[in-house]
Amino acid sequence: MKALTWQGIRSVTVDTVPDPILQQPDDAIIEVTSTAICGSDLHLYEVLGPFMNKGDVIGHEPMGVVVDAGPESGLSPGDRVVVPFQIACGDCYMCRRGLQTQCETTQVRAQGMGAALFGYSELYGSVPGGQAEFLRVPHAGYGPVKVGAELPDHRYLFLSDVLPTAWQAVAYTGLSGDADLAVLGLGPIGQFCARIGVHLGMRVHAIDPVPERRQMAARHGVTVHDMGEEAIGTIREATGGRGPDAVIDAVGMEAHGSPVAKATQLATGLLPDAVAQKAMETAGVDRLAALQTAIELVRRGGTISLSGVYGGQASPLPMLTLFDKQIELRMGQANVRRWVDELLPLVEDPADPLGVDDFVTHRLPLTQGPDAYEMFQKKTDGCIKVVLDPKG
Ligand SMILES: NC(=O)c1ccc[n+]([C@@H]2O[C@H](COP(=O)([O-])OP(=O)(O)OC[C@H]3O[C@@H](n4cnc5c(N)ncnc54)[C@H](O)[C@@H]3O)[C@@H](O)[C@H]2O)c1
Ligand SMILES: [Zn+2]
Ligand SMILES: [Zn+2]
Repeated sequence: MKALTWQGIRSVTVDTVPDPILQQPDDAIIEVTSTAICGSDLHLYEVLGPFMNKGDVIGHEPMGVVVDAGPESGLSPGDRVVVPFQIACGDCYMCRRGLQTQCETTQVRAQGMGAALFGYSELYGSVPGGQAEFLRVPHAGYGPVKVGAELPDHRYLFLSDVLPTAWQAVAYTGLSGDADLAVLGLGPIGQFCARIGVHLGMRVHAIDPVPERRQMAARHGVTVHDMGEEAIGTIREATGGRGPDAVIDAVGMEAHGSPVAKATQLATGLLPDAVAQKAMETAGVDRLAALQTAIELVRRGGTISLSGVYGGQASPLPMLTLFDKQIELRMGQANVRRWVDELLPLVEDPADPLGVDDFVTHRLPLTQGPDAYEMFQKKTDGCIKVVLDPKG
């Protein structure tokens, strides 16, 4: 089959790799009909390179049709399913508590990490990913979300990652209704965090340096600002001088505005893998500009919800300010299955309350994946979200 594989820093290629086959009674094989590129894939593209191996099949936002189903998978050929980005068993201690990203059955213990993820480096189990014609889905009796046949793929596809991630980020703010929420970053995750805030009745203020990303958010009732000190002043003024009740960081470890850390990240990427892994495990390699903005902006006693991914072990944080402002901090990979039941009616609602129809900017054949990665990373051609079509 054809698949996108990781070849090196900023190098993704279309390759022919063996078709996946059933390995366990609860596996399923799906023929992928749509598969998206995520901001998290951009971390692999560059910063997390030391944890990747040449030829790894990447991608973790797929949906498709079951073509082969193990006897314990609960699925049948022909079922249309969305596949969550993490692999979870559904009945361990963690899964029962809605912490599927910490699943004790699939935890990658050798690396000291949580649940295995599709296509996401040695750290998360080196599981072949979904930017491919076919995907083997382990623990298929729990993860895949069965959906109907009527609506187009793009209505359902983002249940794999973006929508539950954004939903969890907002849930972790603890806010509802009459409140001020700030969202840093208007990539795919920030777009939906902001829209969910609006949908729940909050006043949403968002910051991103990219004009078309701000325009998209503005179309959905979000007050938008360019990056910089001015934005912080304006948002503070609009919130009685206090700052918003909560701030979501939907930027993560590759934030603009962190020149020193950027240089460290790039240098780390050029080291041999073993040395670079050690460096990442012991040094502060995150670009913290967005998190620092969040700490500055949030009101005293407010909450910061991190959905942007961070990877360094020694990133310096202003503990004095965090403590003095009494800031609550919540974070983590999204527990996809925990939120799907709340999201499914919203994506199926003909009124499209979260505006899923206004999200995908590019649908391209899988074979154009390498160009798509470059475009998404460089944010050219108005690119906000790319969906790849393995048949295209
Ligand atoms: N927690 C999870 O489960 C989960 C799931 C998916 C993605 N993520 C993470 O969420 C983050 C965002 O993902 P995405 O798909 O939206 O990617 P993205 O890279 O397209 O979005 C990041 C956005 O932040 C903006 N930005 C950069 N620096 C900024 C700054 N200093 N202030 C404000 N905005 C800034 C960029 O212009 C861009 O629009 C990534 O770190 C990704 O890994 C987490
Ligand atoms: Zn993703
Ligand atoms: Zn589990």
